[in-house]
Amino acid sequence: MASMFSRSASAARNAARRAPRTATTSVVRPSARSYSLLARAIAPSAKAATSIQGARGIKTLDFAGTKEVVYERSDWPLPKLQEYFKNDTLAMIGYGSQGHGQGLNARDNGLNVIVGVRKDGESWKQAMEDGWVPGETLFSIEEAIDRGTIIMNLLSDAAQSQTWSTVAPLITKDKTLYFSHGFSVVFKDLTNVIPPKDVDVILVAPKGSGRTVRTLFKEGRGINSSVAVFQDVTGKALEKAVAIGVGIGSGYMYETTFEKEVYSDLYGERGVLMGGIQGMFLAQYKVLRANGHSPSEAFNETVEEATQSLFPLIGQHGMDYMYNACSTTARRGALDWAPIFEKANLPVFEKLYESVKNGTETKNSLEFNGRKTYREDLAKELKEIDEQEIWRAGKTVRSLRPDYKQ
Ligand SMILES: NC(=O)c1ccc[n+]([C@@H]2O[C@H](COP(=O)([O-])OP(=O)(O)OC[C@H]3O[C@@H](n4cnc5c(N)ncnc54)[C@H](OP(=O)(O)O)[C@@H]3O)[C@@H](O)[C@H]2O)c1
Repeated sequence: MASMFSRSASAARNAARRAPRTATTSVVRPSARSYSLLARAIAPSAKAATSIQGARGIKTLDFAGTKEVVYERSDWPLPKLQEYFKNDTLAMIGYGSQGHGQGLNARDNGLNVIVGVRKDGESWKQAMEDGWVPGETLFSIEEAIDRGTIIMNLLSDAAQSQTWSTVAPLITKDKTLYFSHGFSVVFKDLTNVIPPKDVDVILVAPKGSGRTVRTLFKEGRGINSSVAVFQDVTGKALEKAVAIGVGIGSGYMYETTFEKEVYSDLYGERGVLMGGIQGMFLAQYKVLRANGHSPSEAFNETVEEATQSLFPLIGQHGMDYMYNACSTTARRGALDWAPIFEKANLPVFEKLYESVKNGTETKNSLEFNGRKTYREDLAKELKEIDEQEIWRAGKTVRSLRPDYKQ
């Protein structure tokens, strides 16, 4: 499909109207290890940014006719954030993708952060490489929970269930229990994770990988996250959750519940975000190849144009903008075929949602990720994908990009 990219004047005007606001509240922070120095260096700019952005902050917005509350970073300038958490120690339990991103961001924001992981595992090594010091900021899981006031359970979801019998007795009164997924608490019948009754239980779930949480923060931007309260003992649970959300690098947060968060998250990643798109790419590629198209042509018309040209347009300005940026021929055909794909996919999505809601997806995930060999088993499956013709062709196509870097 050929894209014109000679968008009409009205499309350009629409796009300008809808161009996303620049996140001027953010402060670009170097990833220095000494956060006290860093905090001193960035505090004045945080103040300046706040005064410019006084109009931003918590607000109710109309999302296509439904009113929702959003929380923005500008309500929590750095000095206020540091003051709020001055007596707290954030204990990152687990140092995978999220522990890394959230931990480093909170540390760079000048908060007291420690990491708790099993000694001499992969994460322990990774944490040391990132500047966490054994005995000072890096501890065993048990010791970190003991030292922490805000216990941020960022173990893999399967590990949260496996370790709960050890972790639970350490979550004593006055601590706060934090998750980045509703998984363990909502599916308690399968995970056995039942939080103690006398602590606040909160959630901030970044809508992206921990690597993105970190990259966006370093660029002075911020990931969008959802925020929820499961148990509010102090009456301050939501406020604390929002403040932590800012501390770990969120740009803005929208409110949800633990249940809604986990249902939508499991559904989305199995659907369009990952599984669905992988299935669509592969099906389209296979038909092109079966009809005699070369691997490069099949890959270009399936993945390369999508990721490099059209999907970014949808992300930046919306679906109608993408349509306006394409040829009249492309528009007509796509408009005709969209409802056919919708109809074919609707039953699959309905089945998927049911599979999430009835716990099947949780059961599968706990079984697979609870295996001792989960890393090796996953690596094997991913290698199989990497070896599929579509992705081998993709490597060569990518190498042709003028800005290609290995
Ligand atoms: N990744 C995402 O995109 C994302 C996005 C939003 C929310 N979340 C949520 O954030 C949380 C953390 O996710 P993640 O992706 O960062 O996790 P992950 O990368 O899967 O984290 C693995 C961590 O769990 C530890 N671990 C695994 N099995 C263990 C066991 N049996 N005993 C003790 N430690 C064990 C690992 O330590 P070792 O190195 O020692 O094995 C590692 O520190 C989850 O609730 C997840 O759903 C993730």
